[in-house]
Amino acid sequence: MAGGGVISSSNTKAYPGELTCKVLITCLVAACGGLIFGYDIGISGGVTSMAPFLKEFFPDVYKKQSEIKDSSNQYCKFNSATLTMFTSSLYLAALLASCVASYITKAWGRKISMLTGGITFCVGALLNVVALSVWMLIVGRILLGIGIGFANQSVPLYLSEVAPYKWRGACNVLFQLSITIGILVANAVNYGFAQIKGGWGWRLSLGGAIIPAVIFIVGSLTLADTPNSLIQRGKLQEAKDRLLKIRGVDNVDEEFNVEASEQSKKIESPWLNLLKRKYRPQVFFAIIIPFFQQLTGMNVFMFYAPVLFKTMGFGDNASLLSALITGAVNSLATLVSISLVDKFGRRFWFLEGGIQMLVMQVVITVAIGYKFGINGNPGELESWYSILVVLAICIYIAGFAWSWGPLGWLVPSEIFPLEIRSSAQSVTVAVNMIFTFFIAQIFLQMLCALRFGLFIFFLCWVVVMTMVIYLYLPETKGIPIEEMGGIWKEHWYWKKFVPVADEEMAEVKGTNKDEEC
Ligand code: BGC
Repeated sequence: MAGGGVISSSNTKAYPGELTCKVLITCLVAACGGLIFGYDIGISGGVTSMAPFLKEFFPDVYKKQSEIKDSSNQYCKFNSATLTMFTSSLYLAALLASCVASYITKAWGRKISMLTGGITFCVGALLNVVALSVWMLIVGRILLGIGIGFANQSVPLYLSEVAPYKWRGACNVLFQLSITIGILVANAVNYGFAQIKGGWGWRLSLGGAIIPAVIFIVGSLTLADTPNSLIQRGKLQEAKDRLLKIRGVDNVDEEFNVEASEQSKKIESPWLNLLKRKYRPQVFFAIIIPFFQQLTGMNVFMFYAPVLFKTMGFGDNASLLSALITGAVNSLATLVSISLVDKFGRRFWFLEGGIQMLVMQVVITVAIGYKFGINGNPGELESWYSILVVLAICIYIAGFAWSWGPLGWLVPSEIFPLEIRSSAQSVTVAVNMIFTFFIAQIFLQMLCALRFGLFIFFLCWVVVMTMVIYLYLPETKGIPIEEMGGIWKEHWYWKKFVPVADEEMAEVKGTNKDEEC
């Protein structure tokens, strides 16, 4: 395969690779960090489609929505800048928070960042429950965003570091699983609370965020930090004891890599260091993977599923119910990734998922274009049509859920060497948040302007990302995280960026002058 590649045969170290009970429980607990992110993704779309919520905070949108008659343009129904600002403020906060988290995760460990994330998110959720004005809502959302920035920066690293290399994929994808469970629970909660008479159900929906936050806080308190983080902070004996415990063997000398600690100490500015030529492949993927993940268009369905289904002529409850169905498909398909990501590898799933999403995007574009046309007036929607659209969306979501969803967090967290791991992961989170923000902010305007052509926009990006993965991403399955540097040296394109052993020696002795880019 064009971009494939396996670890060098010179890797003769014997790393313990079995999944112990201790490590499994540790991963399950840490992965709960995904719940807060998922809950928020799922709740925003549902709450913003609840009439009492709109009436109280976004009366203009509510008025416009109720004035629209069946014959009007359905594409432009929900277009409002303040409403999208509410959805998006969180992502800007998360972006900035992930950069701060980079320092904390490196200097004080992954656990402290996880705890900070959980606590800030919880405070944000409390503020949202009691919100009396749009500004209280937005400040609450900013706090939720800070919590998510910290959690997404530290949890994927935590998982990739504690997992034995043969199971790293499955353990890391638990994070994505908890994101999808968060989304699903949020969709169910919205569905239930929307029925409450009196119009205050949205407060319960927003307040429900306290529960995943508390689970994450309590979970983080019970966890010990990763051996890699302890090594990075010079706590060598503690790191070794911890590694022995989670691997469940008597000897971890091969895996216990203190050299990385020395490398890490040499780095003065982790951010400037990312510009070094030798880190070009890792930084390329730290940016491009989250960028592409968002340009699959998945979040159009995650944030706006109820709105989108409503736009397509489904009634209020039918919209939330359809969002529930897509949420369930998202979680179930993630289980496929957990069981097979370490068997078939990352490249296989990226490529398969890309093709599956592409085909379904074509179906969705044709279906929506056929019924809604340019003027957005579908007339009567037959049930076969609704079933076809929901089915195509479900198959598309399954494609995302076993490819770009989990791999968008797994691959970046496993390819960075320890000395740049924390800062590079922040880049991944920041890029993810910028483009999540971008999609959340402009989707409604784009739907209004591009009509069904919106789906063609995402479709083109899926073609590009699938080709980039095919050509440039080497396989990372089954390679110990400490040995990951080897994959670039053997890749047809990246090998020219990565120093061979002699150059590395020269660099250590400080004689290599043309290292900066
Ligand atoms: C993405 C989110 C997305 C979610 C859907 C995550 O991996 O980062 O943006 O909403 O998957 O399951």
